[in-house]
Amino acid sequence: MDYSSFTNTSYQIYQLPSWNRSHDMAVISTLLVSLPLPLVLMLLVFAPLVVVKLKGSITTRKQPPLPPGPIPWPIIGSLPEIWQNKPVFRWILGLMKQLGTDIACIRLGHVHVITVTSPEIAREFLKKHDSVFASRPKTMAAEYATRGFLSTALVPSGDQWKKMRKVMASNVINPARLSWLLHKRTQEADNLVRFIYNQCINHENMHGGVINLRLAVRQYTGNVIRRMMFNTRYFGKGREDGGPGYEEEQHVESLFTVLMHLNSFILSDYVPWLRPLDLEGHEKIVSEAMRIVNGYHDPLVDERIKEWGQGKRKEPQDLLDAFILAKDLNGKPALSAEEIKAQISELMLATVDNPANAAEWAMAEVLNNPEILRKRNRQCCRKE
Ligand code: HEM
Repeated sequence: MDYSSFTNTSYQIYQLPSWNRSHDMAVISTLLVSLPLPLVLMLLVFAPLVVVKLKGSITTRKQPPLPPGPIPWPIIGSLPEIWQNKPVFRWILGLMKQLGTDIACIRLGHVHVITVTSPEIAREFLKKHDSVFASRPKTMAAEYATRGFLSTALVPSGDQWKKMRKVMASNVINPARLSWLLHKRTQEADNLVRFIYNQCINHENMHGGVINLRLAVRQYTGNVIRRMMFNTRYFGKGREDGGPGYEEEQHVESLFTVLMHLNSFILSDYVPWLRPLDLEGHEKIVSEAMRIVNGYHDPLVDERIKEWGQGKRKEPQDLLDAFILAKDLNGKPALSAEEIKAQISELMLATVDNPANAAEWAMAEVLNNPEILRKRNRQCCRKE
């Protein structure tokens, strides 16, 4: 299947062929001088209508068909159906089954959303036509999470994304940086074992050695990125048994609140003038969660920038130092304070979300599969 005719704005929509005006006007004027006057007058009255109709039919003929989908309402498209049918992804899946299609087009407001269920077609989008579809939509939640689209993973393709991606590749996500900060991750792995061990031996305080896996993995990933970013496990006092204090729990909880809302459906992402109404209440929730997250990060960032400026620091110790010291081609600081803050929040989101979810999911799979669980226990208990 060839989808190269799709182009990319905030989502994927068709580009209509352009209309060659100068050539058309030359043909029309040549025709007019060779005709009798009454006919010319009639043509002048009706010509615009004919041209519009003609233009429409030429455009329609040249335009490749959109994938099948529900018939949209004028202006709002299929937003009422999306609003009524929750969860939306089940409704879309059911609809596609009903239509017997692996690719569908659902218009929401002015956005054509293309949904795909077949791995082959998905591969065409993600690999063959990656450059066309790689961008990300500008959503309300992403705007808050990225301080107005200043970071990397949640921003649309463009100059800002290119710049931040370059800084990330040379200063954060590369083998040299990873080995530079390995000792911090090792300390956090040790701390995780200590935290779990303390819960196992301390039956009275906990629930008979039962571990809350979600809390453990989320706090562990939170500890790792706080340690790598700010050279600290705890924003507050922490806990004696290695567990999170109030501040760390609030920090991670707020990050997950933002994550929950990042790609969830809200009407105003498709009909922007509805945004002041905050119909789903998401803007209130996300802005409050980001206020808490930024409340922990921003003072540390501002203080550190000041310390480097005053010459109080000599050696970089963590990723925040790496961001502050990153230089552009002219030897000037590569990032503004706002960009550093935006990138730090995004990295916090990326590091507590995916790895913690992957660990929890893997453990759930193991628990549901007794034979693998036995095998894993044997491996863990081996003495060598
Ligand atoms: C199991 C772990 C992880 C998974 C499954 C995962 C998954 C993904 C996916 C699917 C994307 C593409 C998103 C998109 O294009 O819209 C992405 C992008 C990204 N991730 Fe992760 N991620 C993981 C861990 C991490 C970690 C630990 C970090 C930070 C240290 C990180 C940083 C990033 C960044 C910066 C991008 C943006 C890349 C770009 O735009 O070029 N990820 N990740």
